[in-house]
Amino acid sequence: MEPVELRTERLVLDTPLPEDRARVTEYCQDPVFPGYMTLPWPYTSDDAVFFLESLVPDGWRTEREFTWALREASDGPLLGVVGMRVQPEPRTLDIGYWLGAPHRGHGYMAEAARAAVAWAFDSLEVETVLWECVVGNLASVGVARAAGFSYTGAAPLKVEVSSGGHPDAWHGARRRGAGPDAPPWPAEVLEHRA
Ligand SMILES: CC(C)(COP(=O)(O)OP(=O)(O)OC[C@H]1O[C@@H](n2cnc3c(N)ncnc32)[C@H](O)[C@@H]1OP(=O)(O)O)[C@@H](O)C(=O)NCCC(=O)NCCS
Repeated sequence: MEPVELRTERLVLDTPLPEDRARVTEYCQDPVFPGYMTLPWPYTSDDAVFFLESLVPDGWRTEREFTWALREASDGPLLGVVGMRVQPEPRTLDIGYWLGAPHRGHGYMAEAARAAVAWAFDSLEVETVLWECVVGNLASVGVARAAGFSYTGAAPLKVEVSSGGHPDAWHGARRRGAGPDAPPWPAEVLEHRA
């Protein structure tokens, strides 16, 4: 399919473009990324080019991965990225996201993740979106909770982090039509201390 543009109260979610290379490269130097995410590390400008010119357009074309840039206006600079990747058997989506450090703390990713998940349930034949984060990544937990995910348990991270291995992780799920009656997240997550 063609890339889809979404709008929220404060954001435009559109396609990350080759013009975003410098910002993606800059934000992906973040020292927390290799412990939390699966990105090339060290992250180079060539990695951003591959992401923007191959991974993003191929993902939309093959309908295997749907990736958006967060911006405050359509011609504005990229603030961060949210994406969902199809897992085939059983068919689910895995959500992932990052914001450039200067743009955190404004609730932008919570707003974007809600819109991306709502689009998935409206537009794709999928019943469940899955989320995971490395134990202790409470900012990611905050986004998942705000986007209506329920906690489903602790287990090793499914994907390998850039720093290596599959660390202990928290897992969550958002099911189609899930209402406000989802069980609260456990204290062992919300009150976690490193
Ligand atoms: C995860 C990330 C996108 C969150 O960005 P953010 O700007 O902090 O998110 P928001 O401002 O939308 O906050 C969402 C919620 O999380 C809460 N939160 C944010 N940081 C938190 C922290 N360190 N501890 C506890 N709660 C936190 C916010 O209070 C907010 O909750 P609310 O909606 O109840 O107010 C950002 O921290 C990031 O890019 N981190 C590095 C990459 C990463 O870890 N990606 C996720 C991999 S699973």
